[in-house]
Amino acid sequence: MRKKIVAANWKMNLTLDKGEQLVNDILAAGLKLAEGHEVVIAPPFPYLVKIKQLIRNYPGISLAAQNCYSEKSGAYTGEVSAEMLQSIGVDYVILGHSERREYFAESNAQLAKKIDLALANGIKPIFCCGEPLEIRQAETQNDYVSKQLEESLFHLDAAALKNIVIAYEPIWAIGTGLTASAQQAQDMHAFIRAKIAEKYGREAALGLTILYGGSAKPSNAKELFACADVDGGLIGGASLVAADFTAIVQSF
Ligand code: G3P
Repeated sequence: MRKKIVAANWKMNLTLDKGEQLVNDILAAGLKLAEGHEVVIAPPFPYLVKIKQLIRNYPGISLAAQNCYSEKSGAYTGEVSAEMLQSIGVDYVILGHSERREYFAESNAQLAKKIDLALANGIKPIFCCGEPLEIRQAETQNDYVSKQLEESLFHLDAAALKNIVIAYEPIWAIGTGLTASAQQAQDMHAFIRAKIAEKYGREAALGLTILYGGSAKPSNAKELFACADVDGGLIGGASLVAADFTAIVQSF
């Protein structure tokens, strides 16, 4: 049975005290996580150590970074390495988010290097893929996402793939309030799973967790999570409100 995950991507939001309050409010909600279900919190870099302390006694709640650099170490002022994240107990790292691809020109090739460094440090990548609006309107989203998978993931062997989580985030749905329909999400998730099966075999594909991201809210999470190939969500805006995030977590 593949893992179900609801991950909170805080992006560049909240001060430390507001972030601590948010986590304490989520913990106070007394989340009831079914077997194999996991909550992942992805705060900004400066808060990772503190948030790790707050969640350390809560099984089923893990810590993620929102990025890591594509070099092992060295003269890269301002960057954070996978090894540094491992040294503070980070469990996951979000890689390839569309905002990083857009604002920081992250290529599929660079992301392949980031994925290798994360895996080498025992950190599980949450690899983001997804198409812009013009690609969806041209109905070439499958080719677009295929290229992202092939160029960033398909150098991995089957053993490494077991530590990968994929997040499908249609760019046109991120932060827009325009959520993909459940059918659109299911279609792309099923396509991604089929691509993985083609490369790595049916068992590997069935064991892969694929999250949906893009305006997921308490009002649509239940329908999205009921889809056969949707294994949870990568949540942006709604993760900044404890009641909304906990409602999404309990939407399975
Ligand atoms: O990484 C998740 C994020 O991109 C989705 O953002 O605000 O549409 O839930 P949002």
